[in-house]
Amino acid sequence: MRQRVTKAIFPVAGMGTRFLPATKSIPKEIMTLVDRPLVQYAIDEARAAGIKEFIFVTSRGKGALEDYFDHAHQLEYELRTRGKFDLLKILESTNMESGAIAYVRQHKALGLGHAIWCARRLIADEPFAVMLPDDVIAADPPCLRQMIEAYEDIGGNIIASMEVPRERASAYGILEVSEDFGSYFSVDSMVEKPNPSEVQSNLAIIGRYILTPSVLANLDRMQTGAGGEIQLTDAISQEIGAGGSKVYGFRFTGQSFDCGSKIGFLKATVAFGLSDPHFGADLREYLQETVARHHDH
Ligand code: UTP
Repeated sequence: MRQRVTKAIFPVAGMGTRFLPATKSIPKEIMTLVDRPLVQYAIDEARAAGIKEFIFVTSRGKGALEDYFDHAHQLEYELRTRGKFDLLKILESTNMESGAIAYVRQHKALGLGHAIWCARRLIADEPFAVMLPDDVIAADPPCLRQMIEAYEDIGGNIIASMEVPRERASAYGILEVSEDFGSYFSVDSMVEKPNPSEVQSNLAIIGRYILTPSVLANLDRMQTGAGGEIQLTDAISQEIGAGGSKVYGFRFTGQSFDCGSKIGFLKATVAFGLSDPHFGADLREYLQETVARHHDH
């Protein structure tokens, strides 16, 4: 029996510079996609995958994110006395068990690898998940659940992956395939934000990982990599080869949105809006009219 994955790290200590000026005062991770903050989508996905401990790596200025997870007793009371039970149910569904969330601080934004390393003492010696809340994934079953099911079968380190246009490779970490098994493949090498001419593959890393604790040991010894940051990709890459644990890419079923970028956030807003049962049809009509009007200009 493999050890169960019950802990997830949510690195949220980045500066979110692509969303300035909004991120001057609002953490990117609580910006609203339709009606809930980005981080709620990640939490819901983690819960559906059986995660019990939620570890946030935060930084200065992320107080609003921590507050979001407090229970809103007064608001719940008001909704109950006014008989607004639908809203009450929505609110209660976001409540987290006391003690399920832990916050560790990353004192300086030294990169994703460094952020994960900051949580090392809370992980100790077990496999764990990493979820980047700005990658929102529409999938059924949810992406992390698909990955944990695969992990129960194959073990090792598992990285969510999808094909991207080759010329966009430099915006991602890229996985080179060693052996292909269909829904997953073993990884031959991986590189963060390569020049497209440097890589054979167009399989990009998406922000969901299941990792072995040996990756944390690699981070103990890490130097800065691409962009002057301590890269998680480099620490995982050290596992490939003799003596390391296996590294797999996983082709999840579903659609991923890069909500860390403006265009990705807008696309996610449209896609999630269109599938809303209450106003999806209205939005579709509005979009059709708007696009037609833009055509005429
Ligand atoms: P990004 O590359 O999206 O960086 O980080 P960012 O700072 O959030 O955003 P931009 O590029 O300035 O607009 C990917 C994930 O890693 C976390 C971020 O919070 C995000 O979830 N991260 C990144 C950290 O926690 N610490 C870091 O030092 C860097």
